[in-house]
Amino acid sequence: MRTCSPLVDQFQRRITYLRLSVTDRCDLRCAYCMPERMTFLPKKDVLSLDELHRMALGFIGRGITRLRLTGGEPLVRRDMIDLVQALGRKLGDGLEELTLTTNGTRLAEFADDLAAAGIQRINVSLDTLDRAGFARLTHRDSLPQVLEGLAAAKAAGLRVKINTVALKGLNEAEIPEIVAWAHGQGFESTLIEVMPLGEVEEDRFDHYLPLSSVREDLERRWTLVPSQHRTGGPARYFDVAETGGRIGLITPLTQNFCEGCNRIRVTATGQLYACLGGNERVDLRAALRSEHPEAALDEALDMAMKIKPARHNFAIDARGAAPALARHMSVTGG
Ligand code: GTP
Ligand code: 5AD
Ligand code: SF4
Repeated sequence: MRTCSPLVDQFQRRITYLRLSVTDRCDLRCAYCMPERMTFLPKKDVLSLDELHRMALGFIGRGITRLRLTGGEPLVRRDMIDLVQALGRKLGDGLEELTLTTNGTRLAEFADDLAAAGIQRINVSLDTLDRAGFARLTHRDSLPQVLEGLAAAKAAGLRVKINTVALKGLNEAEIPEIVAWAHGQGFESTLIEVMPLGEVEEDRFDHYLPLSSVREDLERRWTLVPSQHRTGGPARYFDVAETGGRIGLITPLTQNFCEGCNRIRVTATGQLYACLGGNERVDLRAALRSEHPEAALDEALDMAMKIKPARHNFAIDARGAAPALARHMSVTGG
């Protein structure tokens, strides 16, 4: 018998937020995220537009009200706007919010279409405003396109949050400038601690920067007033009195936030990961391709609720080494 009950895990957390990665491919190579010669998933294994759509409808039927499309870089997928339009039609009909996390390189082309399909806010990754520094960090000279994309997003009326991974010795000194710039543009700013996900060419620990120290640095310049603002995401927010803007801190390593977790994530090949920092997974592609896909999907979602762990396993041990999960962030989309 099919269940249509809401998704509640074994720790009584209500799961209402889905992060759906539509591709693991990306047009940048952020050094902390993936190696230059990244091996991507075979295209034949990736869910089709129709499968992504049917799967999302199954989730909405089980009480997912917020859906974030991620990647890799979601806008490199050819039929991405078709998917956004199809999902946009569910807004107000089960779906309360449809959002996107992007690196911004193709936003200039797509911002108007995204807004027209019902997306109201987007998160854009940007770790430096220095063109040479951007090229070094991402291995591509794409800062001008990203800035053009951000301008287009603003002109299209999209609310923008800038995601910045805090990196010791790389963008550390520039963080206040990035925050002030974002606020000056009318954007929010979120800072993120680097997480040990997938092998990269450098040792991530060399650039690991705890946000507790970034916060101290910011508090020497500005007044940070703790805010009650919540998006349902892991960030804890502060209003910056001097800039009039809001800053979010995402601290998986220094301050665990898993108790309030409301989310699950699905890869582009339909693997549901119950936690970003764990290996517990359910194969939704097999369910979607089975004889009774709707019932099989429901069963798979019930299983996911049983295996969702209490918290992630990210850790920095006494020697400072951070054992990485084999999977890259670009597979699960954050
Ligand atoms: P909103 O709160 O809806 O704006 O989104 P968000 O901050 O959750 O999403 P975004 O895609 O901008 O992600 C920002 C960063 O937060 C990424 O580096 C994600 O990997 C990280 N993040 C999001 N959810 C989780 C989570 O459940 N656990 C951990 N450890 N990190 C997460
Ligand atoms: N640790 C923290 N953040 C990461 N991102 C990608 N890889 C990592 C990592 N290992 C960030 C991107 C983007 C967001 C979705 O995840 O910069 O802002
Ligand atoms: Fe691409 Fe995002 Fe990874 Fe950078 S962090 S390489 S933009 S998927």
